[in-house]
Amino acid sequence: MEKFVINGGLPLKGEIWVSGAKNSAVAILPAALLLDVPCIIENVPDISDVKICLKVLQGLGAEIRPVGKNGDTYWISCKNINSHYVPYEEAKKMRASYYFLGALLGRCHNACAAMPGGCPLGARPIDQHLKAFEILGAKPIITGRNSDVVELHANQLRGDVISMDVVSVGATMNAILASVKADGVTIIENAAKEPHIVDLANFLNYMGAHIKGAGTDTIKIQGVKKLCGNAGEGSTVDYCYSIVPDQIEAGTFMIAAAVTHGNVFIKGVIPKHLEAITAKLRDAGVSVTEIEDEDAVHVFVKENAEFKPTNIKTEPYPGFPTDMQPQMAVFLTLVNGQSTITENVWEDRFRYVNELAKMGAKIDITQNGAIVQGSAVLKGADVQACDLRAGAAMIIAGLAADGQTSISDIRHIERGYADIAGKLRGIGADIAKISTN
Ligand code: EPU
Repeated sequence: MEKFVINGGLPLKGEIWVSGAKNSAVAILPAALLLDVPCIIENVPDISDVKICLKVLQGLGAEIRPVGKNGDTYWISCKNINSHYVPYEEAKKMRASYYFLGALLGRCHNACAAMPGGCPLGARPIDQHLKAFEILGAKPIITGRNSDVVELHANQLRGDVISMDVVSVGATMNAILASVKADGVTIIENAAKEPHIVDLANFLNYMGAHIKGAGTDTIKIQGVKKLCGNAGEGSTVDYCYSIVPDQIEAGTFMIAAAVTHGNVFIKGVIPKHLEAITAKLRDAGVSVTEIEDEDAVHVFVKENAEFKPTNIKTEPYPGFPTDMQPQMAVFLTLVNGQSTITENVWEDRFRYVNELAKMGAKIDITQNGAIVQGSAVLKGADVQACDLRAGAAMIIAGLAADGQTSISDIRHIERGYADIAGKLRGIGADIAKISTN
């Protein structure tokens, strides 16, 4: 077992680089199953969810080779895929295993994977994914000893109108994956608009797909027979695609800089993707400067600056991201006055509140949100990372607190943050990963 130990109270200063987006990578890697030629994927984050994706791909018959020295680039050939079964244990380890359903269905017209695992955030239904698959012509069967395995079979996939009942990132991505090689035209209505949806569409379009409207609420997909890039099948061109920067990792660093009264350049980002986070931090009195031509944002807080309260409501993109809610809550414990949080996406995203209370935070849970009493003086404590973003919040709290914070269950954090301790040490944090065995 490993934990993070943080000695807090140091202002963060310098430059920190953001990795590729987790929620893009976990869709784009399975999307390689749909390609008729090899491809090279760059800016792949070194996180455990990606390692699982690569292992599953290899298990299905993909050939994968690391490229270059950065450890973030892979050559992938899915020429010899010989199975449509995602191993049960792997599927259970991450939420994004559901993308193998859409990608395998699109490729083989058959798919089988256990219902996904991932962070415990309350009910995580996949009814909209199954609805999309059914509209395209697949028959889903729920099977397995625990009725937790989805099998899909389609004689033919045919484009149609898929009107989502809720805005769902995963269901939108899966509808794209399953329809990109279907016959005819698919229209996804009430689609999610997150940057990772656009990233998946850009990747597939680059490889020869016809997807229009990604990033809006209506996506139109003209099915194609092959995805082999412009040079065509049999070419020796290396198709190389780079995953977009992770806006949640960037936002996490922005808040870490703010709570430590730091002076940090967060680099390798797309400032537009951070607008909702930037706006809230500015509301509260944090100086955030977008530096478009350097792909960076600069977060600066004077030593004795005081923060103002602000209210946040989580919403699908371009609203304030639910995946930044726990980190923002830590910031709000330090402002002068009371702030409110309304959580509109996940019903159980407040498990971090008890952990933060151990450090001196005062947060009262309400029906679909929380009231954060500001002006807390955070003190180091032994806390747990209850889930990925809760864990990120614990790190931020530890950086802001007086004394030492020890965070257990860091496997949750490592699912989504590449070398977070090393990166934060690079800007002056006193954080170490230690083994508890
Ligand atoms: N929903 C349904 N039916 C469905 C699918 C979703 O009712 O079939 C509901 C959910 O219960 C939720 C809402 O729709 O209330 C939104 O869920 P969505 O499908 O958008 O979430 P997801 O695709 O399962 C992704 C990210 C999450 C992130 C959400 C929202 C991945 C692998 N996961 O999950 O990321 O919170 O979108 O932005 O992309 C994280 O990174 O920490 C994380 C949890």
